[in-house]
Amino acid sequence: MSKIIVRKAGPLSGQVITGGSKNAVLPLLAATLLTEDPCVLDGVPNLKDVEVMCRLLRSFGAEVEQDEGGRRITVRAKTISTSEAPHDLVKAMRASIVAMGPILGRCGEAVVPLPGGCAIGDRPIDLHVKGFVALGADVEVVTDEGGGCVRADGRALKGAEMYLDFASVGATENIMMAAALAEGTTVIENPAQEPEIVDLANFLNKMGARIRGAGTDTIRIEGVERLHGAEHCVIPDRIEAATFMLAAAITRGNVLVENMLPNHVVPIMAKLRECGVQLSEEEPGLRVDASGGFFRATDIKTLPYPGFPTDIQPQFMAFLSTVQGPSNIVETVFENRFMHIDELNRMGAGILAEGRSAIVRGGASLTGAQVRATDLRAGAALVLAGLVAEGETVISDVYHIDRGYEDLVGKMAGLGADIRRVKNGGPVDSVDRLVFAE
Ligand code: EPZ
Repeated sequence: MSKIIVRKAGPLSGQVITGGSKNAVLPLLAATLLTEDPCVLDGVPNLKDVEVMCRLLRSFGAEVEQDEGGRRITVRAKTISTSEAPHDLVKAMRASIVAMGPILGRCGEAVVPLPGGCAIGDRPIDLHVKGFVALGADVEVVTDEGGGCVRADGRALKGAEMYLDFASVGATENIMMAAALAEGTTVIENPAQEPEIVDLANFLNKMGARIRGAGTDTIRIEGVERLHGAEHCVIPDRIEAATFMLAAAITRGNVLVENMLPNHVVPIMAKLRECGVQLSEEEPGLRVDASGGFFRATDIKTLPYPGFPTDIQPQFMAFLSTVQGPSNIVETVFENRFMHIDELNRMGAGILAEGRSAIVRGGASLTGAQVRATDLRAGAALVLAGLVAEGETVISDVYHIDRGYEDLVGKMAGLGADIRRVKNGGPVDSVDRLVFAE
């Protein structure tokens, strides 16, 4: 099992280049199943989750080729050999569920094992099911000792109007992809508005879909007969970019975060400015100057986009534990996304969790400890805390981090962090080491 060891090394400095977005590339890869033509995705991040998604596409019969660096992926789903997703891959990565919409739209049927819950929540799929039913599919959710599956049968999907009770990212993506080939018009009210939704709609429109309103509170999809191949470059990862912004902030450093889109991280910029961190757009990215030293606390409430992103809540909490004054953090998106609090408190963070709220006392002087990454973003938060903790911080279960960050250790070291990855015997984690994933 690999571990990450971090030691305090002073303010980070220099520049770091953000990679392609994990949460954009996964649905983009799924969307290639909607056509028999070849599709090309550029700017692909080299992540474990991308490897799992490529294996999933191959399990449906698609040809998947990655160039040497893995940055460019060509997918050709000329024929779909099965409409059933394999259990092991869906369990390894719950985001596999977004293959259901394309398979249903392309084949008229789809069977996907229930992805199940994970560290941060139960992760139901009732809104995905609601969308497929609205499009005219017969959907059955079967639960059994193996975890069960969701079975959708819809030979001739028909456009429909629907409202999402929660602006679910995955449900919006699944419905958009199934509706792209449905007959007639689909209107999704209260969809997710994340940049990843816009990126997916842009790719689908390049494939010949007719989608309007992505990124707003109403998406309209005019179904078409077929979709053709297309080329697309994945948007930068706003969560990775924000993680490096917070690495600069927590170490009181001065870092240029490159290849990122400032308009995708507006809430994080606003909250860092409230704390007193200096931010300025500087080609080709955003300069984060936290060398000013004294910072004041602020409160955070996570919300669907354009609200403050839940995927940055753990990392921002680590930063707030080091600024003077109490902060209140409310997590409204996931019901159990405070697993990192116990680990941060082992480092002396002084955080009290009360249901979906957490009170961060502030002003903590963190000390290194043996800690465990409980999920992807919690792991990133522990790395940030380790950057300023006295002594050595040893982080285990780092396979979570590998799912969503490409070479986090190398990029942090490039900014001057004292950080390294060690192996305790055994091979470095691989995607064959299938784990339950957020
Ligand atoms: C996506 O997950 C992201 N993952 C998550 O990022 C992100 O945290 C989340 O969106 C919210 O922004 C990918 O894009 C691969 P949701 P998703 O459906 O689609 C409830 C990371 O760290 N809900 O928007 O699964 C659900 O329980 C990961 O990169 C229903 O109730 O998120 C949750 O409370 C973690 N019924 C809330 O909505 C449903 O049918 C948000 O879920 C679906 C969701």
